[in-house]
Amino acid sequence: MKPSIIELSEVTLKAGRRTVLKEVTLSIRAGEFIGVLGQNGAGKTTLMRALLGLIKPFAGCVRIFGQAAARGHPAIAYAPQTSAELARQRLCGFDFIASIANGRCWGRPWISRRQRAAVYRALEQVDAGALAWRALSELSGGERQRVLLAQCLLGEPKLLLLDEPLIGLDPPHQQQIIALIHRMQQSMNLTVLLSAHELNPLLPVLDRVLYLGNGSAALGSIDEVIAGPVLSGLYGADIEVLRVDGHIFVMAGHTEIGKDAHRHV
Ligand SMILES: Nc1ncnc2c1ncn2[C@@H]1O[C@H](COP(=O)(O)OP(=O)(O)OP(=O)(O)O)[C@@H](O)[C@H]1O
Ligand SMILES: [Mg+2]
Repeated sequence: MKPSIIELSEVTLKAGRRTVLKEVTLSIRAGEFIGVLGQNGAGKTTLMRALLGLIKPFAGCVRIFGQAAARGHPAIAYAPQTSAELARQRLCGFDFIASIANGRCWGRPWISRRQRAAVYRALEQVDAGALAWRALSELSGGERQRVLLAQCLLGEPKLLLLDEPLIGLDPPHQQQIIALIHRMQQSMNLTVLLSAHELNPLLPVLDRVLYLGNGSAALGSIDEVIAGPVLSGLYGADIEVLRVDGHIFVMAGHTEIGKDAHRHV
């Protein structure tokens, strides 16, 4: 069996005064593609920030590659939940990616010839070579997401943390981005944690799902986790799971959970 690269033991995470996760223990193996699900406020972003060492656990221990999570790990790449700020960014794709080649600072960077080649290679890997010189503010959501992914690839990471990369994309573009991430994962042997609100677009690529809710976490196969009793515990409400034609519908009464969760973004 492949080694664990993420291990949480009895981890409690707080955001402000709020307990987001309580005494969570789990481990994720190298090469897994994990879907991180849960409703708004369940703790998906908080968990990713803890894996990055940006917040310290209130209790317990978060270990990555066998060591306590700490800021700036070179093998971890992170694409944050897309901010409106990025959509206003006048920087072009090339400069955006190049700006981390010499440390994480914004602005037009000076980089070596070798670094320039690495930026072009990263853009080509996500089929975004043609976007290199266009301002991020002029790109569509899907194009901007590809540039963000290219930035992730620059340091040749082993672990990708992608926070809601599908937000704002229509179903065909969601599928394009998922297929791209899956291709990168397979060819570079990456471990991927990808947070999302909708499970169905991810079904073809997920190895396991990590579902957060009510301070708890359930990690397992789709069949183990996406089940009425497990989800009822995580939502603190009666949840029913329906399977129709290879699609899964998570229902609270007559309302489908996850649908349109981010229409406001
Ligand atoms: N800096 C903060 N101070 C206080 N509370 C916070 C802070 N950051 C997050 N929270 C709270 O912690 C909880 C978890 O937030 P988090 O952003 O991790 O949820 P999420 O699952 O990523 O949600 P979404 O689907 O909306 O992105 C929320 O209730 C949120 O309001
Ligand atoms: Mg979030």
